[in-house]
Amino acid sequence: MPIESSQLMEKLSALTKRRGFIFQSSEVYGGINGAWDYGPLGVELKRNVKDAWWRQVVRNREDVVGLDSSILMHPMVWKASGHVSNFADPMVDCKKCKKRYRVDEIAPDYEETGVAPTQCPDPKCKGELTGARKFNLMFETHLGPVQETANKTFLRPETAQGIFANFQNVVNSTRIKVPFGIAQIGKSFRNEINPRNFTFRSREFEQMELEFFCKPGSDEEWFKYWVEERKKWYLGLGINPEKLRFREHAKEKLSHYAKATTDVEYLFPFGWGELEGIANRTDFDLRAHQIGMRSVGKWNGEELQDFKLVDEDPEYASGKLSYFDDEEKRRYIPYVIEPSAGADRATLAFLCDAYDEDQAGNELRTVLRLHPRLAPIKVAVLPLVRKEGMPERATKIYDALKERHAVVYDESAAIGKRYRRMDEVGTPLCITIDGDTLTQGTVTVRERDSMKQERIAEDQLVKYVDEQILR
Ligand code: GAP
Repeated sequence: MPIESSQLMEKLSALTKRRGFIFQSSEVYGGINGAWDYGPLGVELKRNVKDAWWRQVVRNREDVVGLDSSILMHPMVWKASGHVSNFADPMVDCKKCKKRYRVDEIAPDYEETGVAPTQCPDPKCKGELTGARKFNLMFETHLGPVQETANKTFLRPETAQGIFANFQNVVNSTRIKVPFGIAQIGKSFRNEINPRNFTFRSREFEQMELEFFCKPGSDEEWFKYWVEERKKWYLGLGINPEKLRFREHAKEKLSHYAKATTDVEYLFPFGWGELEGIANRTDFDLRAHQIGMRSVGKWNGEELQDFKLVDEDPEYASGKLSYFDDEEKRRYIPYVIEPSAGADRATLAFLCDAYDEDQAGNELRTVLRLHPRLAPIKVAVLPLVRKEGMPERATKIYDALKERHAVVYDESAAIGKRYRRMDEVGTPLCITIDGDTLTQGTVTVRERDSMKQERIAEDQLVKYVDEQILR
């Protein structure tokens, strides 16, 4: 049943709170802006999103390895990467109501025109705005007990730099060869000026990032390849294709490091929003870190034995972060294709996409039509009544299934009510143990979306559930 987008976000945030998916951080103290907590069901859902990503990007391939780098890094990382000087949003403040705005949000053509609005966009205020100022989004912190400039560093605003900084370690410690990727999932922090739209724009969030290193010249092919792969991922997990779009950035709108970027966007109730950016970052980052390493005396440009002059920029191609290609017998700095996705945004998109209401008999039911891989609970085991040996039989089934899947056992309330509770949190299958189970060894399996019920032999149940869930 179609739900008004103006109501969807409200209904979804009420459901996610009521059923323990997402809570406001520090709610007991009145909350904190831009930070969210995932409750018992939310943590399972988000973990399933991350697992599905890891399965596609790392596990199911031979050419990508994983990494878990630290959040705190040497401050030079952020200088060399360009974050200290460039990772800033222009903002303006209203002198009257004190609201703060990101200029590019209230004036989308600001980048081209350079003209910032002068009047507060709040029609009730209409106060005068300050001139635009750059506001760096990185959270500063200090290493050690003394807060001096010398020990200042930042909470990472992206996981990607931990990958670049470990490029050499991974090449030296594995037998992997270009083209190959390093993948990482982890927290990132940005002091967003206006956190909003539920978890969509937060100050603390999780990223799922792949840096795929390839030979210069092969980058455009790999870029196309990864756009297609990522498309398959979202669609394979059941996202409505009409609400998913791939938007190529115009050349003049590209970030300073990118040769091409395609954003993956989802039509949220509040409009189109970016789920993922897929960028051709060229050799920008590895080069930048070579320069960074040199500036702190970690690399003095020494010649390498196997260096052969093929790059028009030999100084950098012979550096520490270059790669020796065994087959071609030459050294180069690999190009990088980066599909960079947000775990919280993907989770929110899957939730928005799954939320539905329909008629179940005389009742209106709320159902989360989540893909079985993503559903926080896969199966509910429900004895029809709390007597006649049904709970004991149900417990046996529960024990057999819980080794393989996230399963719950529930014997409270009328069966219809228990079904509704499971529909509302997206549980694909409910197994009911009834009188026939005791006499004939069969159970009722009810499918969430169609509400159809079928009888399955108890000894076929594990196989049946595997087939339904591991799609
Ligand atoms: N390494 C590239 C990079 O970080 P980005 O486009 O700035 O690129 C990648 O971020 C993804 O991280 C975004 O597409 C989004 O899904 C997620 N993300 C970025 N900022 C976020 C925020 N404030 N809240 C939630 N997710 C965010």
